[in-house]
Amino acid sequence: MKRKKIGILTGGGDVQPLNSLISAVIEYGDQNDIDIYGVCKGWLGLIEDNFIELSGKSIDPLIGGTILKSSRVNLRKIDNIEEIISRTFTKNQLDGLIVIGGEDTLSNSLILKNIPQVLISKTIDNDVGTFNENGILNYFTLGYPTAAEKISSFVSLNEGIRTTAYSHERIVIVESMGMHAGWLALASSLGSPDFIIIPEFPLDYVSFKEKILKKYLDSRNVIVVVSEGSKWSDGSYISADFNEADNFGHPRFKGTAEVLANRIKNDLKKYFDTRNINSINPSYLYRSGKPNLLDITAAKKLGTEAVKLLGNKISESFFLAIQLNETGFSPMAFQLNNISNINSLHRFVIPELYDSKNYSVTGKGLNYLTRISERFPILNYSF
Ligand code: F6P
Repeated sequence: MKRKKIGILTGGGDVQPLNSLISAVIEYGDQNDIDIYGVCKGWLGLIEDNFIELSGKSIDPLIGGTILKSSRVNLRKIDNIEEIISRTFTKNQLDGLIVIGGEDTLSNSLILKNIPQVLISKTIDNDVGTFNENGILNYFTLGYPTAAEKISSFVSLNEGIRTTAYSHERIVIVESMGMHAGWLALASSLGSPDFIIIPEFPLDYVSFKEKILKKYLDSRNVIVVVSEGSKWSDGSYISADFNEADNFGHPRFKGTAEVLANRIKNDLKKYFDTRNINSINPSYLYRSGKPNLLDITAAKKLGTEAVKLLGNKISESFFLAIQLNETGFSPMAFQLNNISNINSLHRFVIPELYDSKNYSVTGKGLNYLTRISERFPILNYSF
């Protein structure tokens, strides 16, 4: 009997635990006589017939990035794409595909109805899943725990910017990634910044300016975290560059904290020396480096489960979510037929989690984050 052969691809922005997942897939495949084939550069590899044999290979699960490399390809923009991909799939005698990506990469999967796939969400934006009155589907996306740890340490007193903000009496505005959703900025609350601004709640600049002035006059150092995709109250982005839009039409964000800092500088100069208002954008550092423990564990479980599913039920497709139960986090498979549109899994920070009057996390928000941060050092010291 022919050995089963499964392909695996990583698309969209990289996250730290991708190699942890790929290595778990290889390991389970090797133990169960399933061949694992790596698709290079995301969906591009299936268009260009670019694969590498992974079975029997040992890759370091603790190194960030993805050995398979990544791309952002919008399959809907390519003529006859179903045919092109089916041809490569059949030519390489694949039985199924593991697709690891964010909202855009995963939305490509829905076009390919005849290919059995297991979809796994990864993005530091944490915006794939649902969070509503019915509960949480997909507690977090791969990469979010590590990025959440990074952002909270960047702003914290014991590891981050707070000490120098104190010494120099600075207002520091830190840019968070997060195009449409403020989950990463919200996670910074574990490091106790003073204000958090997120895309879901447009910024009432006049009231914000008063709050920041009051806070500065009271404590002489202020830390603000702003998501790159945040908007003014008229709905326009604080800073977005559409000249560098990606294949899905998303602009590139790279100056949100700077634009906000400059506006505040200008408006507050009559009150104090605003040379000490600064901005910082850690940018790709949020996605870089090694994965943290929760991400590694989740990646291993998801990778193993994905091969199991494709090995057993080779004609169906699934979305593999991370669910929280009494024993902790574990993967749970949902049939893709029941998910008509991956956009229905595009989740945003809801008012229960974010206090838009005070620009901070709510108790419920903190509760949600605590389950993710339990395995990294709690950084919520404050001045
Ligand atoms: O999709 C995740 C993300 O990290 C966004 O937060 C960010 O805007 C985007 O990727 C930028 O990615 P790139 O510059 O790699 O296209």
